[in-house]
Amino acid sequence: MASKLKIFSGIQPTGMLHIGNYLGAIKQWLILQETSDCIFCVVDYHAITVKYEPEEMQQRIFNAALDYLAAGLDPKKSIIFVQSHVPEHSELAWLLNTVTPVGELRRMTQWKDKISYEPKFEISINDSDFRHLKNTWKVINENILNGSNDISNITNRISRATKTAEKLLDLVEGMLEFDAKLNTIKAGLLNYPILMAADILLYKTHIVPVGEDQQQHVELTRTIARKFNSQFGETFIVPKAQLSQAQRIMSLADPTKKMSKSLGPKHYLALTDTPGTIREKISRAVTDVGSEGGEMSPGVKNLFVLLKEFGAPAEIKKFESAYADKTIRYSELKEALADAIVKKLNPFQNKRADLAKEPKKVWKILNDGAKKARPIAQKTLAEVKKKMGL
Ligand code: AMP
Ligand code: TRP
Repeated sequence: MASKLKIFSGIQPTGMLHIGNYLGAIKQWLILQETSDCIFCVVDYHAITVKYEPEEMQQRIFNAALDYLAAGLDPKKSIIFVQSHVPEHSELAWLLNTVTPVGELRRMTQWKDKISYEPKFEISINDSDFRHLKNTWKVINENILNGSNDISNITNRISRATKTAEKLLDLVEGMLEFDAKLNTIKAGLLNYPILMAADILLYKTHIVPVGEDQQQHVELTRTIARKFNSQFGETFIVPKAQLSQAQRIMSLADPTKKMSKSLGPKHYLALTDTPGTIREKISRAVTDVGSEGGEMSPGVKNLFVLLKEFGAPAEIKKFESAYADKTIRYSELKEALADAIVKKLNPFQNKRADLAKEPKKVWKILNDGAKKARPIAQKTLAEVKKKMGL
């Protein structure tokens, strides 16, 4: 029997997916599950590396499962499970911690982004301000010592010195804030990519379909696999990242930025948005930003990308030629696009609503998934521990 390619990917249970996630990730997974051995994991251990509400986590995991199943991930074809249901993930992560250099972790862009601090205050104080501040205090003291009543000269000095002191206080506030941030960053956030490497390596994965932002983490996974193999003997497959072919879907409200949940609701279309919400968000989508000289503005381009994904060929053609001969009316384009998206999301939303009424069935799918994943994970872990002399 020719063995199929093994695929692993994970998604954090954020509670809702948007059409960027669908077109950029899920759509690719649906194709892969037809030809390969796919494992899709709801990575709850990754989701707890940032602040969260424990009472909400089970619902977030459940919602993620609803999204994947309603979108078409099929438990008969793929293994779908929750990371924390297979304890081997955290056990392998610990073992990999012992071969991963801290320096590699500190180089990760996502780590740098997460710990980065946006300074709120600029340093606008110069040396002469400092000298002036110091001298002012000296002059005040001298006046007090002399018992002088001549304060006319001092008032002006104090006004400038006070401004300098206020700026200093701002800087102190900024530094305290930074210090607080530095001191609350958790080790889990730095070590996050090691857990991701464990997820991937446990299943002897060949291909990891991810977005561009995760490519560096897959590179690190390759490094960890190679280091382990050379230190303890050939054990892991060195996996490859497969970047999604889909274009980046841009924000509706600011088409120069990638559509993302963190930008706020008007920027994205959730797969669960009601038809009314979808129509409203699209009708407000920005179309007129930027270039005049013949080139399509980013907002219009984004709407065309979406129309090509969701619209009927005749309709796409109609708006493309209207754009070419400059008779296009964006309100019509938006209306057609909203209709197409509402129509396309309708079966997804119905299926999701049906599944939501059967939580036992959904949890059973996840539990069955874990039962299938676990023996594979146990086998790899046993091999790893043996090689490590444990
Ligand atoms: P995230 O929720 O950002 O972790 O992304 C989950 C998956 O969706 C990743 O594979 C991303 O590459 C993909 N994705 C997220 N946002 C977009 C977007 N605006 N356009 C295309 N793909 C996206
Ligand atoms: N870190 C990934 C993200 O934030 C999620 C993830 C965790 C993952 N483990 C993985 C992706 C293993 C692919 C393979 O998107």
